[in-house]
Amino acid sequence: MANFSHKNDNFEELWSKQAENLPWFKKWSKTLEWNEPFAHWFVDGQINASYACLDAHLKNVDFKDKTAILWEDERGNELKISYKELHQQVNNFAYFLKQNGVGIGDIVIIYLPIIPQAVAAMLAVARLGATHSVVFSGFSAAALKDRIGDTQAKFLITCDEAFYRNKTIHLKKTADEATLNSPSIEKVFVIKRSDADIEIPLQPCDIVYDLLEHANDQNIVEPTSVESNHPLFILYTSGTTGKPKGIIHSTGGYLTYVYSTIKWAFDIKQDSIYWCTADIGWITGHSYGVYGPLMHGATIFMREGAPELPAQNAWWKAIEKYKISIFYTSPTALRMFMKIGNHIFQNTDLSSLKTLGSVGEPINPEVWLWYNDHIGQQMCPIIDTWWQTETGGFMISPAAGLDLVKLKPGSATFPLPGICAEIVDQNNIPVDNQNKGHLVITKPWPGMTIGIHQNPELFKQAYWSKFKNSYYSGDYAIKDKDGYFWLLGRADEVLNVSGHRIGTAEVESATLEHPAVAETAVVGIKDEIKGEVIIVFTSLKQGIAVTPELKKEIVQTIRKQIGAFATPKDIYFVEQLPKTRSGKIMRRILKAIVQGDQIGDVSTLEDGTSVEEINLIYKNFIQSIQQ
Ligand code: WT7
Repeated sequence: MANFSHKNDNFEELWSKQAENLPWFKKWSKTLEWNEPFAHWFVDGQINASYACLDAHLKNVDFKDKTAILWEDERGNELKISYKELHQQVNNFAYFLKQNGVGIGDIVIIYLPIIPQAVAAMLAVARLGATHSVVFSGFSAAALKDRIGDTQAKFLITCDEAFYRNKTIHLKKTADEATLNSPSIEKVFVIKRSDADIEIPLQPCDIVYDLLEHANDQNIVEPTSVESNHPLFILYTSGTTGKPKGIIHSTGGYLTYVYSTIKWAFDIKQDSIYWCTADIGWITGHSYGVYGPLMHGATIFMREGAPELPAQNAWWKAIEKYKISIFYTSPTALRMFMKIGNHIFQNTDLSSLKTLGSVGEPINPEVWLWYNDHIGQQMCPIIDTWWQTETGGFMISPAAGLDLVKLKPGSATFPLPGICAEIVDQNNIPVDNQNKGHLVITKPWPGMTIGIHQNPELFKQAYWSKFKNSYYSGDYAIKDKDGYFWLLGRADEVLNVSGHRIGTAEVESATLEHPAVAETAVVGIKDEIKGEVIIVFTSLKQGIAVTPELKKEIVQTIRKQIGAFATPKDIYFVEQLPKTRSGKIMRRILKAIVQGDQIGDVSTLEDGTSVEEINLIYKNFIQSIQQ
């Protein structure tokens, strides 16, 4: 059975069967309560995520010594933590949090690098029935402060230092900058890593958790039983509006979805040694870095540091050393390695690999083939997984754990069981095969977000209004003549830089924070390695001259507002941005200019503004650009 998507009338029954695989404390009374766009899966079911990831396995005595986490960093440090030890660490940390007032219903921000304690922190928060909101440690203080402000969180967990690319990153200092002006924060829990050699400058709200000191604690905290729809976490993601949205995920529905999809797509087993290269700060790190593999009792590998350190072959040596069987990464990373050249994995044994995954952006057929030939040595299926922060888990993907279809390089193949995906035109009419359209999902699924924090209306408006009775993904897609799905990138103003989702509006707001900037427009253009890069067009306030320093300052402003990963490739200074009669910025003109394309059919796409007008605007505009 190749395409599961056509007959999904009994999707509720399918999900109910899947949910039975999880260790519920109390069974649900109803599979789905659907009040579009809000789904409540497994109503009245009682569960706890930390229990499902840890305690449930430890009932089996043989499981005690099974490795849960393997960790290394770019400096050569290593850790190996068994399920039993992780369980103890989570209990100790949960005990500490509980003593400090964390309980059911609280939101706890986690601002940590890729260290085992980040996993323990997530599970400890979940153990107490609190809701975590992980903020990627590459985000700036301003971005962290925005997220604290939106959640109104009382608690934040961070650590003294992080290490990346031979540099020490003073994470606590960044957290201080963010929390000092965040009135909701009452306590900051600072994890002191045993290898840290600096004194942490303490603020009055800081409480230090020294890992060495707590290494032998034996506390036990009973997992808090929560109703299925209880929010397990909030994760912020970019959209078409300036402010990132706090995507809320449930406990029971989300866990059921992640458990099922990781099994179907990757064929994960208890003996899998699994490496997801995504940071825990993104949804990939949540669903398929932590919850999915741990619910299956697999071993996860985590790596803190740059992929090319201590040597260019560090990733491939890690696969050899730890005998990784499932490897999940992004096309951006693969393109980087392709560029370095194939010599870097000569004499490296990659034969432990069984399944290779890809996520974050469309994988170009050349990259797919390279992945297949050189990393998989033509022995591993390439599982290209299409999904989003909002979907909680894989939606369209080959299924190595089911009946694997014949793969096509660059296609995510078919929707997974229970997922009803369609490609439609502007009028919500399904397009014929080989025609591009908007990808929509027509039925709810258990991994779907239960809403946007503080803004239920926005969930309806941004996802469930554009097309009647369908979830709007924001992506273009096409089905080929055989019905295979090919993802074609975003249809909206959302950029994808190295697999990181960034809204143009977000970068525009950040640019406007610089006092010299009057107006700005941001576009993304294609890039060989990163997929897309950011280009900023900016007009300055009257009387302000363009200088190299100013350009640097604006770049700094953006990095400060968002983070280094949002650094623009270039900034163009213009007198005025090209606009249509109704005052809309003509982004296509901007894009055409930086890509060196003809403006071509741009004219037909703008509202009411004539071809002549557009050509004139274009001409004047080109003349006014300064770099
Ligand atoms: C957007 C979601 C979900 C994990 C990471 C990103 C793009 C994601 C693929 C893929 C083509 C992909 C889409 C989507 N995307 N995976 N396999 N093929 N495009 O999560 O930050 O929520 O971004 O990433 O454009 O809408 P995210």
